[in-house]
This record gives sequence, structure tokens and C-alpha cells, in this order.
Amino acid sequence: MKFAGCSGLRGEVTVPGDKSISHRSVMFGSIAKGITEVHNYLQGADCLSTISCFQKMGIEIENRGDVVLVHGKGLRGLTPPAEVLDCGNSGTTTRLISGILSAQDFDVTLTGDASIQKRPMKRIMEPLSLMGASIESVNGNGCAPLRISGRRLHGISYPSKVASAQVKSAILLAGLYADGETSVTEPYLSRNHSEIMLNYFGADVRTEIEDAAGTCGSANTVELPGQPQPAGRATAVIRPAKELHGNLVEVPGDISSAAFFLCAGLMAPNSEILVKNVGINPTRAGILSVIRDMGGDITLLNEHAGSGEPTADILVRSSSLHGTVIEGAVIPTLIDELPVIAAMACFADGTTVIRDAAELKVKESDRIAVMTENLTAMGADVTAAEDGMIIRGGRPLHGAVIDSHLDHRIAMTFAVAGLCADGETEILGAECVNISYPQFYEDLKRLLILS
Ligand code: S3P
Repeated sequence: MKFAGCSGLRGEVTVPGDKSISHRSVMFGSIAKGITEVHNYLQGADCLSTISCFQKMGIEIENRGDVVLVHGKGLRGLTPPAEVLDCGNSGTTTRLISGILSAQDFDVTLTGDASIQKRPMKRIMEPLSLMGASIESVNGNGCAPLRISGRRLHGISYPSKVASAQVKSAILLAGLYADGETSVTEPYLSRNHSEIMLNYFGADVRTEIEDAAGTCGSANTVELPGQPQPAGRATAVIRPAKELHGNLVEVPGDISSAAFFLCAGLMAPNSEILVKNVGINPTRAGILSVIRDMGGDITLLNEHAGSGEPTADILVRSSSLHGTVIEGAVIPTLIDELPVIAAMACFADGTTVIRDAAELKVKESDRIAVMTENLTAMGADVTAAEDGMIIRGGRPLHGAVIDSHLDHRIAMTFAVAGLCADGETEILGAECVNISYPQFYEDLKRLLILS
């Protein structure tokens, strides 16, 4: 796939449903009683992997495209799959499903593609084992394939080293089935879609958050729009549930997909883009504050709450941007957006520093290495660090051949960068956008101003 420097982008775009919320709607719907009706389910390969795993465990799931109907069978309704469960490229499927499978009364093997087989699973194996689960890495390398034998679990209080919603959610899901309370403390609050949706389905999850001074505040959920991102440690506590109850889920547009259009509209000249119906849960929306810090022209319109998840339309216009520092508590709220933010920083005056983001190294690719290699190939001044990148902006980028490393967010980042660079950019493995945004290139090209 090839891209050339453009004269601007204008118009409206509606991005597909949120990947994290889509996964959870099918997982939680499968172990709830009754029907869960999901609107705007993301039809990307990752979320289709989740559907297929639960279908293999006896759950009837009707995927009608616009609506997905999950015929949940309750907490104890899953049946042993006849084959290995294939999670494809999806870390969320692999890690969250492990929490559920640890408590079933059958054995399962989980696997995934070459990227999944390199991603760290010890981070869930350790806490789930402490809860009494039997979970082992088949090749003994701490990665998938994982063999899980369901056990009776007991609650634990687990201090997680990483602010990871996948780790937190795996533990909370196991905690639904455990004897006694289960709690997870993370250094900073990560996305809280599991907590919101589990409560919405009738579970009892509460969250306690320390502010920067270490004072503890308590909240059942922390999804209020406009609420600042708390800066301290966060503890989620779940009580075992008797049953969950299926519900209607309206999935908002994915802010991680919207990010490509937001950054494109800010970086490219003569641009004005309205991205409609985007989820702006504060635990996901750190990119909005970074854009404001960089001097970006951004406006939220039509703010409203969907099924407990705040949503808005977002308008951006071409802006003269300046560098910023991105670190600490904001990192988990924009972790998937850092590749495109790093590309945008190349078009900003001054230096942008990204730190506390070592998690980037264990995503679908090593995003610190891959971003540094590809931005450098386009003429940017970027230095990789152990936990981030330093980007000295203000140098024009030129086209290059970009290896996506089959990482969907890298491919989309460089499509946008290619539209703002001189000359031609070719993206290798461009089709990997299929993981989270199958129509991405069509939507992007529709916004181009034809000169
Ligand atoms: C996700 C959590 C994040 C994110 C991933 C989706 C989720 O991962 O990067 O794309 O749905 O819980 P970590 O929780 O491992 O940081």
C-alpha cells in the first residue's frame, strides 16, 4: 500500500466500535445468564477471535454484523472445547479468557499467532496460580500456548507491577468465581471497561484510587466524563458473584482508532476532521490532554453517556504544534496511541519526551524499536530509550519503505505519516489493519482533499 504527501484532509468519519469493550461484551455476555445484545461490535479479526473461542465452548453467538447476540449460559455454562482455542493476534482474548478458564471444571489449551506466542503471559500466570489455578506455558518460555486446568480458586490481594487492564481483568474475572474477595492494585489506573461492564451485568466491583498525595478516594466506578485522571495507585476489588445478567451494550467508537484521524487532522495542512461517536472514558482518553498540551485545535461536541461509557464527537483542525513531556499516570490512558503521537511529535516544534512506557516493547511488536526504525527511515530525529522515545520535531519527513512488522497500529500510523511527508511511502504488510480497523484505508482516503 502506497501513500503520497497530501494537500489536506476534510470531512466526517465514524470509526468502528471499541476493541476493548467489544471483547468484554462477548466474554461477559457468554458467562452471564440470558441474552446480551451488542450494538456496534468491532468486526476486526481480534474480536472475531473472541467470538470463535466462546462458540467453541458451547455459547451460541449470532454475529449479524450491526448487532451481535450472545446467548449466555451463566457462570458455569461453558463446555469443554473439542480443540485448542486460537486467540489469533489478540492479547486481550488470551489474557482475559485465561482468568475465566482458570475457574472452569475442564482443561483447555490456548494459543495464537507468532506475535502472541512471543508476548509475556507470566504476568497473568503468576496471579492466577496464586489464586489456585493450574496454568502452564507449554513451551516453558512464559508465553502461549498455555495449558489451563480449571480449579477451585480463592481470592488474593495482588500488587501488579504493571498498570495493565489485561492483567487486572484476568484477575477480576477469576475473582468472580473465587472464594472470598479478590483485589488488584496497579501503580496507576488502567482502562476500567471491565469494572464498568461487570457492574452493569450485576457483579460487585469497586475501585479505590489514591491521589498524588497518597490519600484514598473510593468510587464504585470511575467513568464520569470530565473527571481528571487520578495520579496514584488504584485498587479494584471484586466479590464472588452468584450470576451475571446479560444486558444491552452500545459500543462507542474506538478512541484508539479515532487517534489516527485526530493526529492526521492536526498534522496535515488545510485540514478539518470530525470523528463521530468516540468513547472518551478518562482511563482511555489521555490523547486528548496531550493534544491540548501540544497546542492542538480540538473540540469535544455532543458529549453523552452510552452504556456507562462517556462518548463524544471530536473536531480537530490543522494546528501548529509544540513538543511536550508524556509520562506517569497518563501513560496507561494512551498506551495504544503512542505510536501515532510519536509520529505527530515529528511535526511539532521542539522536543517531545515519552517515558514510563516500557510496556510499548511488549505490544503486537516492540513499538519503541519499530517506531524509532521507521521514523528514522523517514528522516525524523528520534532516539529510543528503555521506557520511551525522545523526538526532536520540526524536521520535514520524506517518504520511505515502512515495515509494519504486521502490527496494525504501526501500519495505520505510517499511513498517516506518509500523507504528511514529501514523496512516496510504501507500507509492507499493510493488510494487518484488519485486526482492529478493516476499512481504515478507505475511510482515510475518503477524507483526502483532491488537488
Ligand atoms: C487492552 C489493554 C491494553 C491495550 C490493549 C487492550 C484491554 O493492554 O494495550 O490494546 O482491552 O484490556 P495492557 O492492559 O496489557 O496494557
